[in-house]
Amino acid sequence: GDGAHVPVLVIGTGYGGSVAALRLAQAGVDVQMIEMGMAWDTPGSDGKIFCNTTAPDYRSYWLRTKTKQPLSNFFGIPIDKDIPRYTGILDAEDFSGITVYQGRGVGGGSLVNGGMAVTPKRENFGAILPSVNPDEMYNTYYPRANAGLGSGLIDPAWFDTVDCYQFARVGRKQAQRSGFPFEFVPDVYDWDYMKQEAAGTVPKSAVAGEILYGNNYGKKSLQKTYLAQAKSTGRVTISPLHRVTSVSPGSGGYTVVIEQLNTSGDVTATKTVTSAKVFFAAGSVGTSKLLVKLKATGALPNLNGEIGRGWGDNGNVMCGRANYLWDPTGKVQASIPCGGIDNWNAGGAFAEVAPLPTGIETYASFYLSITKNPNRGTFSWNPAAGRVDLDWQTAWKQASIDMAKTIFDKINATEGTIYRTDLFGVYKIWNDTLTYHPLGGAVLNKATDNYGRLYGYPGLYVIDGSLIPGNTSVNPFVTITALAERNIEKIIAADLT
Ligand code: FDA
Repeated sequence: GDGAHVPVLVIGTGYGGSVAALRLAQAGVDVQMIEMGMAWDTPGSDGKIFCNTTAPDYRSYWLRTKTKQPLSNFFGIPIDKDIPRYTGILDAEDFSGITVYQGRGVGGGSLVNGGMAVTPKRENFGAILPSVNPDEMYNTYYPRANAGLGSGLIDPAWFDTVDCYQFARVGRKQAQRSGFPFEFVPDVYDWDYMKQEAAGTVPKSAVAGEILYGNNYGKKSLQKTYLAQAKSTGRVTISPLHRVTSVSPGSGGYTVVIEQLNTSGDVTATKTVTSAKVFFAAGSVGTSKLLVKLKATGALPNLNGEIGRGWGDNGNVMCGRANYLWDPTGKVQASIPCGGIDNWNAGGAFAEVAPLPTGIETYASFYLSITKNPNRGTFSWNPAAGRVDLDWQTAWKQASIDMAKTIFDKINATEGTIYRTDLFGVYKIWNDTLTYHPLGGAVLNKATDNYGRLYGYPGLYVIDGSLIPGNTSVNPFVTITALAERNIEKIIAADLT
């Protein structure tokens, strides 16, 4: 409530925030979590909490009046549609040159993402987090993160036969025919549940194409893992539809200003809470925007010059390929990816073989590539507009396209096939204007010390994707979780006893 004092306040309920809350609670500390999105625990009038990818409704987008689907076109025809403005689950946040997709709600990105739980190859770790000891990460914190998240591999024998992974078998066959290794990657989806979906014995989620706007069954989002465990300690309270707007030094630690929202996004109340310790876990964009604003507007003037810097898009770029009629990818496609094509060290690209769950046969292969794009953006305060801007340029994605082409030009040459040009516009091969994987903005050992303590303000911490300088070489949430596990262990031992 307004005027309350809490020992620890956590801003955001994604991976970093959930790890912090669980471990602090287990150490005997009471934690208050603030989440701008909804709780996502109550079914709508259709009996479902989440809407389907093929039928986005009011629940789909964060305060938009039209959907902004990553696949915007089909046969060149725009497929976005009008929706009522609502505090929906997926935020497509527009900056100049890039749209950053993020989850909104209790569970953060885990609500909307594909659940691919990928630990980077150890040989690549030095480039991801140069100041972190890889032995500690690979011996202790990656295993701890994967256990906490519930990562698991698809049963390869089932994969080989089931209809809903035909698209991935085509992806594997074509990768291998061009000499690229196809690798199964773990996911947090409950694979036993998916087997039952495919057999028709339980309600369908992945096999019904649910993804992007939430999975009603099967996906082990943070609500079912870290946050469930955190709540069961009895020490963690979560306030959904509450957005932090300010943190500044005050009596007893820090004064935190919080706006309460209704489902139209209007502010219905403003509250002030004091807390001895505050963890920024609002995600790369959320944490960066808050810190840049608070430094520039005088609430936290002593933050250093690294705030807002080192932001990257994990090199995300999407494309589709057109297959021949003898290589159908399947009418029914599981929405959960289970494998990728690794050309990281030779060509700078790791491509996720992604589903295109449209419910009809498309003969398309679809990929989200993660590439070694070297470009980095900076967030800065725009006083005239009263907002934080990002200086990213769409042209910076050319590096990613070139790296992704090291895989797909070769596959097209081997197969005698071509790129799809109808999925992102009219005659547009690449979706080069989005990222699913924002990283950086408050980089470890630069804006913070080597454990996420913000320089200049004892008791303020960063514990989310903003610590990672722009690239993880694979999908990022396992690394975000493992780094949070490492940092919170140190913080509990050193700062809370
Ligand atoms: P995260 O974004 O998860 O959480 C931040 C939370 O803070 C959000 O809930 C937000 O609403 C809240 N917040 C922000 N500002 C606030 C404020 N001022 N006050 C209160 N609350 C605030 N990764 C992966 O490894 N495998 C995958 O398969 C995928 N797939 C994927 C698909 C799609 C569509 C998306 C959008 C993303 C992915 N990702 C992914 C990326 C992954 O989801 C992402 O990297 C993590 O969720 C980031 O974790 P964080 O803890 O940094 O923040």
